[in-house]
Amino acid sequence: MSKKVYLTDVTGRDGFQMEKEWIETEEKISILNQIIQAGVTRIEATSFVSPKAIPQLKDAKEVISSLNRKGIELVTLVPNLKGTELAIEADVDEINFVVSISETHNNKNVNQSVGDSLEQIKIIHQLAIDHHKRLNISLGTTFGCPFEGIYQVDKVLKVMGRLDSIGVDRITLADTTGMANPKQIILFVKTLKAAYPNTHFSLHLHNTRGMGLTNLYAGYQAGIRHFDAAIGGKGGCPFAPGATGNVCLEDVAHMLSFMGIPIDPDVRKLTEAAKNLETLLGYQLPGQVMKAGLASDTTAIESH
Ligand code: COA
Ligand code: ZN
Repeated sequence: MSKKVYLTDVTGRDGFQMEKEWIETEEKISILNQIIQAGVTRIEATSFVSPKAIPQLKDAKEVISSLNRKGIELVTLVPNLKGTELAIEADVDEINFVVSISETHNNKNVNQSVGDSLEQIKIIHQLAIDHHKRLNISLGTTFGCPFEGIYQVDKVLKVMGRLDSIGVDRITLADTTGMANPKQIILFVKTLKAAYPNTHFSLHLHNTRGMGLTNLYAGYQAGIRHFDAAIGGKGGCPFAPGATGNVCLEDVAHMLSFMGIPIDPDVRKLTEAAKNLETLLGYQLPGQVMKAGLASDTTAIESH
C-alpha cells in the first residue's frame, strides 16, 4: 500500500460555517486561493445549505465561480436534494452529502430522520450518475454523538449496509465532535474496510478533546490515506454542543512530512495562509506549528 497521504482542505466549509461575523466573499476566496497555492489539490470550498441554517455560507455560488479551480478537485457539502441540484449547477467535481449516524444529530442538523436522508441518497445517487459527478457520503457522528453517547461499530455497519445497497462507494467517517479515541478509530476502520473492501473510506476528525493528530495517525495505520483538515484548526458544527475545530491542516502536514510520509502541500505556505486567516478573523487560532514554527527551524543564539 502506498505511503502517500491526500489531504482535503475543509476551511471554506467546516472552517467558516460557525463563524458569526460575516467574512467578505473576496476574503474567503483569497484564503482559499492561498491554500490552493500552497499545493492542496482537493478543497471543500463551501456548502449548498439553507442560508437560514448557515448564514456564513450563503455566498456559495459566488465563492465557487471566483475560485482558481485549475488542477484541483472541488467538493461541496450538501444536506438535501436542493443542495445537490445547486452543486451540479455550479459544476463541482464532488458532491458530499451529509447524514449523521445519530438520529438526534441528524434531526438537529438537517431537520429530517436518518431514514429520510437515506431515501434522499437513492435519488441523489442517480442524479450524480446522470450528471457524471462523484458522490461521497459523510457519516456525521460516526464514533459518537454528544446527545446519545459513544457508539459501537454495529450501528455504523447497519447504515453502511443501506448505503452499499444503493451503490454508494465513497464514505467519510466523521468524528463531528471529537469523541473518538485511537483504539476506536482502528477498530472501526478495520471492521468497515473488511466488510466493504471496495468502498473508499476517508476520515474527518475534530480536535475537540485533543485526540485529533493521534486519531489521524491511528487511521493511517489502519489503512486510511485520505483525510480532511482545516488551516489554523478552524471549524465545528453549529448544531452540536461544544463543537470545536478540525484537525489543523498545517499541523497534520508538518507531522506527516517530518515522518517521511509524502503529501502534496508545502507546510510553510500553509502556515502563512493560517496566519493570514488569523489576522483576518482577529483572534488566535488553535494551530500550533503556526505559533512555534517548523521543527527544523533553528533560532539564532543571542549574544549578551
Ligand atoms: N440550499 C439553499 N437553500 C435551501 C436548501 C439548500 N440546500 N435547502 C432548503 N433551502 C431553503 C428552502 O428553499 C427554503 O427557503 P424559503 O424559506 O425561502 O422558502 C428554506 O431553505 C427551508 O427549506 P426546507 O426544505 O423547509 O428546509 P428546512 O428548514 O427543513 O431545513 C435543511 C433543512 C437541510 C435545508 C437545513 O437544515 C440545512 O441547510 N442544514 C445544513 C446544516 C449544516 O450545514 N450543518 C453543518 C455541516 S454538517
Ligand atoms: Zn466537521
